[in-house]
Amino acid sequence: MMPVGLLPPMSQPRGDRRVHRTLADHHRPDRGRPVPLRPRPGRPARPPDGQADAQRLPFPDEGFDLVTCQFGAMFFPDRIGAFTEVRRVLAPGGRFLFNTWGPLGAHAFEVALQAGLERAFPVDPPQFLRTVPHGYADPTVVAADLAAAGFAVEDEQELTLQGRAASTADLAAGYLTGTPVRAAVEERGDGPAVRATVIEEMTARLGPGPVTAPMTAYVFRAAV
Ligand SMILES: C[S@@+](CC[C@H](N)C(=O)[O-])C[C@H]1O[C@@H](n2cnc3c(N)ncnc32)[C@H](O)[C@@H]1O
Repeated sequence: MMPVGLLPPMSQPRGDRRVHRTLADHHRPDRGRPVPLRPRPGRPARPPDGQADAQRLPFPDEGFDLVTCQFGAMFFPDRIGAFTEVRRVLAPGGRFLFNTWGPLGAHAFEVALQAGLERAFPVDPPQFLRTVPHGYADPTVVAADLAAAGFAVEDEQELTLQGRAASTADLAAGYLTGTPVRAAVEERGDGPAVRATVIEEMTARLGPGPVTAPMTAYVFRAAV
């Protein structure tokens, strides 16, 4: 489930500190340099562990300065409800930092995968990629949902980075076995022929690999 808060002490491993500094940089945009976040009196010294439904956060009101969520919002059935919960647990002046994927067409690996799925299942191909991970890809809709939950969007950035995989066959195996695409394929009758067709189509589009392709996301910083 999603990470729901960050109030780190200064005894974090180096990698974690880098993440915190990056987050702190976002969190305190008015300052010229990254500022480590410190626990406040009466607040937890460490981020809480555990799982929770983002639409029903098990935390008191105004308990956090920062909530982050990486590639989770697209999955929430009630996004305004989840954002309203995030707002409830944020203290005055708090920030909500999260990202969403851009449209399917801006993610070259998944364009190739979707083409492979459509070739393997010409009738009723799986639509999971289009409707879920890439189904919340309009920043104006995201901003409207944030506003409905009482947030003001402070910053919104479109970010395109290069994804990398050792081979196209690895990429296909990862999607077909380690993501919800698996369930959609199994429902329709998975088998070696399906996987071979998907790999063939993806390889025709991407080459055998090592493979590099652009992936676009939006990053939002919203303020209470
Ligand atoms: C694409 S994964 C992202 C995982 C991780 N943050 C990352 O970037 O690798 C989406 C995550 O959203 C979580 N998720 C889906 N619905 C949720 C909900 N209602 N509340 C909390 N987490 C949820 C899933 O459990 C999953 O871990």
